[in-house]
Amino acid sequence: MDAVAEIKAKLDLVEYIGRQTRLQKAGRNFRGLCPFHTEKTPSFYVFPDRGTWRCFGSCGDGGDIFSFAQKRENLDFRGALQQLALEAGVQLTAESAQKRGRAEKLMALMSAAVEYYQRCFRDADIGAAARAYIYEKRGLTEEAVQSFRIGWAPDEWRGLRDYLGGRGYDEADMLAAGLLVEPESGGQPYDRFRGRVIIPIADERGQYVAMGGRGLHGEEPKYLNSPQTEVFDKGRTLFGLNVSSEAIRREGVAVVVEGYMDVMGPWQAGFKNVVATMGTSLTENHAALLKRYAKRVVLAMDPDAAGLAAAERAGALFMSLESPEAMAKSVRSGDDLQGKSELELRVAPLPAGKDPDEIARDDPAGWAAAISGARPYAEFLLSRLMGAAAPDSPVEARRIVDRMRPVLLAVADPVERAMYVQRVARHLGVSETSIMERIRPQGRRRWIAPEPERPSGESLAERTLLAILLRNPSLRTEFRIVPAALFTRAADRELFRRWLADDIPTAEDDPLLGHALDVGRTRLPPMVGSEASTWAWKYRDAIARERQLEHHVAVSEVLSEAEQELGPRLVDQIASTAWMGGQPPEEHRDIAETAIEVLQLGSSIHRRDEPGVAS
Ligand code: UTP
Ligand code: MN
Repeated sequence: MDAVAEIKAKLDLVEYIGRQTRLQKAGRNFRGLCPFHTEKTPSFYVFPDRGTWRCFGSCGDGGDIFSFAQKRENLDFRGALQQLALEAGVQLTAESAQKRGRAEKLMALMSAAVEYYQRCFRDADIGAAARAYIYEKRGLTEEAVQSFRIGWAPDEWRGLRDYLGGRGYDEADMLAAGLLVEPESGGQPYDRFRGRVIIPIADERGQYVAMGGRGLHGEEPKYLNSPQTEVFDKGRTLFGLNVSSEAIRREGVAVVVEGYMDVMGPWQAGFKNVVATMGTSLTENHAALLKRYAKRVVLAMDPDAAGLAAAERAGALFMSLESPEAMAKSVRSGDDLQGKSELELRVAPLPAGKDPDEIARDDPAGWAAAISGARPYAEFLLSRLMGAAAPDSPVEARRIVDRMRPVLLAVADPVERAMYVQRVARHLGVSETSIMERIRPQGRRRWIAPEPERPSGESLAERTLLAILLRNPSLRTEFRIVPAALFTRAADRELFRRWLADDIPTAEDDPLLGHALDVGRTRLPPMVGSEASTWAWKYRDAIARERQLEHHVAVSEVLSEAEQELGPRLVDQIASTAWMGGQPPEEHRDIAETAIEVLQLGSSIHRRDEPGVAS
């Protein structure tokens, strides 16, 4: 038995979850208030037979004991494994234990360094210039200084080394942690950070893994950061997350900025849900990290060209993470991308010429408005494109198409992608096919996800779901909350109702017998019994997406009617005015409204929100 299976066998899921929320028996299962969102009526279920849980309320999440621990304690899988192994008394392999021990050691060392720097910052003489800079020049409060544990690295060659050495820490470890630098010419290692304000960087659990050091006198670089080490990977670390995670979770929104000060400034102004990347664009790992806390990520980037370019890059990344291909991969690897809660990416363009730091402090209302009014990413990008003057050369047109390429390709749904292509084509005054041609993936770059796992056509997904249900009566409790209206065909609806009532047609003269047998013959993806629930919910979600798309198509038909009436140029003009926040003339409001809805729908398809299915 592997460690995962052994842990599952040894721990009692009902008891484990029961520590977080009071569970009551409901048939063979248990029910209680969802520990992840506030509710008055219990919609959270534990299924001891299958070793799974699911919230049927607004969060819709589910999984096994590991995903529960991950979500509850904000751990990654490895963290949950470690914690549950400890609890279950299961020995993880020696190698992983050793690696863990090494990391703990380096983080303890970092923590000691943070203390040293803090001590220097507070020292009456040594820290005077740093305090003047931080409190007076930057206007940070005492509370912020304490929460972020701001420090000062004195301008000495070996201050930290001697301090840590005197406390019995190993020089080799200080080097490995990036706190010391080895002179190229040989000789004694010396402190990396000298004469800099220290901003400690922690992982999401608050364990220190790195630092950023800001010079006071315009030194180069402005910020000196720790190098990558065994415990610090900047592509996996977000500055401020240890301080902000609660607010992020509470608000369901994570704001991503580019700098240390851009986290601390808003924090002081009461906006505590902000984190920063450190000189990199957002990576898939950052996304995965944020996803554990929030459904919505708002990029609040500098309005200058560099900031917006960063937003574009980050966006392409988030969108590709949401592709069915990426999802299929993660489903295969057993990591459920947190059930239905995919990330929703938005962009808040901030007023030009100011850092988020200044905006949040000088104009808190403006900050709040920019964040809450942030636009869906695809809409943001499109409006930037539409906002630009129509290209006057083929080269320019091609450049624009190339910029849109990652976004267009990351849109998995053909209908939705076609919508965007259509908008771009109109704006550029070129044919849709030429754009399709241009963005088509070449060679090994497979941006467009293959669709094999999603059945095409409305009834195939419905049919498959129904077939899974018929073969797995144990899913009945879970699926009780699914309205029969999910199924398009009356026969399917009826069969679903009969299945729910444990009354599957068997009698010769049952009018539904033929249909039931038909459905029973549907080919299913290969699955073992315990995976049936996951698959069934995937198909339920697929159907919900189809419903949304149907609505989308209907809405875009309204638009094309308007085009026939008014001509594409005028409709385009109305739409772009509206996107840029302008007021189209009274008589064209409805068209503008529809155009915006089309775009928003387009991006909302990535989120699989509750479908518009009436019960
Ligand atoms: P900025 O130069 O815009 O920094 O770089 P800032 O946060 O506004 O700095 P202040 O307000 O002058 O103190 C944005 C971010 O890029 C990273 C830092 O994370 C910085 O906050 N950076 C910048 C570095 O890591 N090193 C540098 O030399 C410069
Ligand atoms: Mn700044």
